[in-house]
Amino acid sequence: MLKIEDYRQIVEDQLQMMGGMKRPEGLYDPVRYILSLGGKRLRPVLCLASASLFGDYTSALMPALGIEVFHNFTLLHDDIMDQSDVRRNHATVHKKWDNNTAILSGDVMLIKAYELISKSPVGVLPQVLEVFNKTAIEVCEGQQFDMEFEKSTDVTEAGYLDMIRLKTAVLIGGSMKIGGILGGGSLRDCGLLYKFGQDIGMAFQLQDDWLDVFGNQETFGKKIGSDILNNKKTFLLISALNRLEKELKKELLDWMQRKEYDADEKISAVTRLFNEAGVSEIVIQKRDDYFARSLENFEKINGDREIKQEIENFAHKLMARSR
Ligand code: IPE
Ligand code: IPE
Ligand code: MG
Ligand code: MG
Ligand code: MG
Repeated sequence: MLKIEDYRQIVEDQLQMMGGMKRPEGLYDPVRYILSLGGKRLRPVLCLASASLFGDYTSALMPALGIEVFHNFTLLHDDIMDQSDVRRNHATVHKKWDNNTAILSGDVMLIKAYELISKSPVGVLPQVLEVFNKTAIEVCEGQQFDMEFEKSTDVTEAGYLDMIRLKTAVLIGGSMKIGGILGGGSLRDCGLLYKFGQDIGMAFQLQDDWLDVFGNQETFGKKIGSDILNNKKTFLLISALNRLEKELKKELLDWMQRKEYDADEKISAVTRLFNEAGVSEIVIQKRDDYFARSLENFEKINGDREIKQEIENFAHKLMARSR
């Protein structure tokens, strides 16, 4: 039986082989660059492991790579939108090159993703595409909400949760469902995989938001405090606004409205207010609630016992991740 680490290695090797020496280099160098910087590869790994719950993983290999290429495409555009300079401990594509490069290299990756996904066996291709198309559209919807929320101060918890479901959770759910379909899983099991993956994805984004404030840049690979500088309406910020007393709430709102400030000063002031409000524990609790719910659905899935255990262990590790 292959382990999660084996699937990760297969994905890594295949991505490196895809590189090739294509021209124009200005278009393809950034693609090779972002794909060579590592990353956890969790979506393709979960896709392959999901397939192997029911059958052979090999028919899921190209689609799994397509999902990883799609994910990396979203990162190129997301880093422009979030004005992020660092990812996976390296300069982001739009910083190393420029915005136009990140847009166009991202575009070609989106098309490459479709090309890879289209290599699904013809019998299940319509089903796979249906899941993928829906997911890809939802990611755009989530990203739009995420940007719109930057300008708003009355985003609700429910609004935030729906936004992260769209921008992050559905792709993890979709990766697992697509893997399930390709492995020959039943409709019921594929549905449960989707639910499991989506809840893992919710917990995953809550953890990402937490790490953006309380993580360590070296291990996280991204700049700490970037969500604070972008006025992102994370669960931390929404909970802080709901919990702080008048004066401190006013101070937090003031930081969000300020046009000129020293970045480090804003990050440390907002972090201090988050600590005053005790929101770190609240986010961790919310993450754990989603994780607990994910496991309830996971237990109901029929499939190879050992692989189920592998996936569950992997999910446990993901929850406690620092990168
Ligand atoms: C980053 O995803 C974007 C989010 C949804 C938080 P990952 O944390 O999976 O990024 P890599 O691929 O491992 O770098
Ligand atoms: C990422 O959310 C969601 C997508 C890329 C679709 P974030 O903006 O929080 O991801 P990071 O923190 O930049 O990786
Ligand atoms: Mg973003
Ligand atoms: Mg971002
Ligand atoms: Mg983030």
